Amino acid sequence: MGPPSFLRTSWGGLTSMLLLCCAHVCLSIPDPRLRDRLMQEEASRQIGGQLLLTKSELQLSEHLLRLKEMEMAQPQFPPAMHFFEARPFIQRSPIFSLLQKMPKGAALHVHDFSLVPVEWLVKNVTYRPHCYVCFTKDQSVHFVFSDGDPVTQHQCSPWVLLETLRAKMGNATEFDNSLIANLTLFTSEPGAAYPNQDAVWKKFEQAFMVTLDLVTYAPVFKDYFYQSLQELYLDNVMYLELRALLPKTYELDGRTNDRSWSLEAYREVSRQFVAEHPDFLGTRIIFTVHRGLRDFEVKDLVKMAISMKKEYPDIMAGFDLVGQEDRGRPLWYFREALSLPADLGVSLPYFFHAGETNWEGTEVDGNLLDALLFNTSRIGHGFALPHHPVAKELSRKMGVPIELCPISNQVLKLVSDLRNHPAAVLMSEGHPLVVSSDDPSMFGSTGLSYDFYEAFVGIGGMKSHLGTLKELAINSLRYSSLSPQQQEKALHLWSGKWDKFVSENLDQKPNKEEQDRK
Ligand SMILES: *[C@@H]1O[C@H](CO)[C@@H](O)[C@H](O)[C@H]1NC(C)=O
Ligand SMILES: *[C@@H]1O[C@H](CO)[C@@H](O)[C@H](O)[C@H]1NC(C)=O
Ligand SMILES: *[C@@H]1O[C@H](CO)[C@@H](O)[C@H](O)[C@H]1NC(C)=O
Ligand SMILES: *[C@@H]1O[C@H](CO)[C@@H](O)[C@H](O)[C@H]1NC(C)=O
Ligand SMILES: [Zn+2]
Repeated sequence: MGPPSFLRTSWGGLTSMLLLCCAHVCLSIPDPRLRDRLMQEEASRQIGGQLLLTKSELQLSEHLLRLKEMEMAQPQFPPAMHFFEARPFIQRSPIFSLLQKMPKGAALHVHDFSLVPVEWLVKNVTYRPHCYVCFTKDQSVHFVFSDGDPVTQHQCSPWVLLETLRAKMGNATEFDNSLIANLTLFTSEPGAAYPNQDAVWKKFEQAFMVTLDLVTYAPVFKDYFYQSLQELYLDNVMYLELRALLPKTYELDGRTNDRSWSLEAYREVSRQFVAEHPDFLGTRIIFTVHRGLRDFEVKDLVKMAISMKKEYPDIMAGFDLVGQEDRGRPLWYFREALSLPADLGVSLPYFFHAGETNWEGTEVDGNLLDALLFNTSRIGHGFALPHHPVAKELSRKMGVPIELCPISNQVLKLVSDLRNHPAAVLMSEGHPLVVSSDDPSMFGSTGLSYDFYEAFVGIGGMKSHLGTLKELAINSLRYSSLSPQQQEKALHLWSGKWDKFVSENLDQKPNKEEQDRK
């Protein structure tokens, strides 16, 4: 491995330079050449630090650097602000518009029902016929589609047909806005709305349950997924690995479809989307179950995952556990269930969320090491990884990347100023890492570009450059669950898009935006 020999040459060089310096000029100012060399060495260790950039890439990188300098000079630095307040500033950022155009590769950490802006759920889905609503005591709602009077399953007011309700209102804009507020965490006053982690997670799970009412209606389930792919495609993402609960879906007459129906729906919609967009590569599914379940329940679900993997090898990528890590059960609790595949001699790749916590040394904090012991293919978040030297070393040695989701970590209150995100350490030492967005619609973002902005401008700071972005995009394909041949094909397609992106954005007069901003 690199470090030992690397250190040897570097320190050898350092000592001889020190000797040289002292022999000739005995000033106590450190040798500037030595200083340059050390700085270069440090720069070369970061993500993208080893890539040789073309002349055009270097030129675009210079342009990005100038844009960053201007961004830093503004009174409001978006990565230092809460995303809900930073969003309008980011939307005006010329770096952000470049990132939107940039081919970003794959989305490797996003969840099934958080990919489409919630406005679509309200303005499109709740306007469909047969949609009923009821109101709960805790300021929330439930929905159901039904061709007769719905059967009540929730603690809720009597069901009303939305069409009837809206007709009585005349102007339903305010009502629709209140429904939108039920489906997302986004609010203009995040500090007041979410005083602590438990409060924000409570709202998260509440909004999720409301979403579930709508998206588990079978026709909506397919439309929602098509719309999800559309969102990613428009953001220049070319492949998706979706963490999916594969819930039962329901029909208008109350009949339900099982989990295989959901998996087949994903496969069918994804194939259709690829047929219409040949430069999109498709979808693979990571089956997720809640970490609040008991071990025997998870054991059954692992068995189910094994058989789904056998039946749908092209689309099933593997297995993961979801839900608030600090309140859920640790991976070690599920050790018997998670050992099943190895015991049975079958393969079920894991993609565990781990280390999404601030609580050092708790049982949950042990998830990072356990995820690695269970041979996880990637680590969701790994926010706590820099606190665990052994886990960090293992993750590097095993080539297990962190899926960094900066906005999620900020909104769910692990860190407030993104310049202080622990992944800054990982990025500067070139730790395997990909950028993703977790639950964009919950956070009022879309696709991957907002998270790339935070990672590039906030976490990477002044030293991350076009090479950083290039390596992050390449990583997303290299660390995907695609086969080596599929990866080559994906990288080939991506690299054509990348070259086009670089050349097209060079042609813009580099000083245009700078002048506009002055
Ligand atoms: C809702 O979205 C579907 C596509 O998923 C589209 O066909 C339909 O026209 C939309 N309806 C409304 C009311 O926007
Ligand atoms: C409905 O109400 C909103 C504000 O609540 C207003 O902005 C909008 O213009 C109204 N629409 C109509 C058609 O009156
Ligand atoms: C959810 O919608 C209901 C119905 O309009 C509304 O009374 C309630 O305030 C909304 N909840 C939130 C958190 O906005
Ligand atoms: C993890 O991988 C190692 C090496 O391939 C293997 O020996 C071990 O059984 C695996 N563990 C599990 C839990 O799958
Ligand atoms: Zn997640």
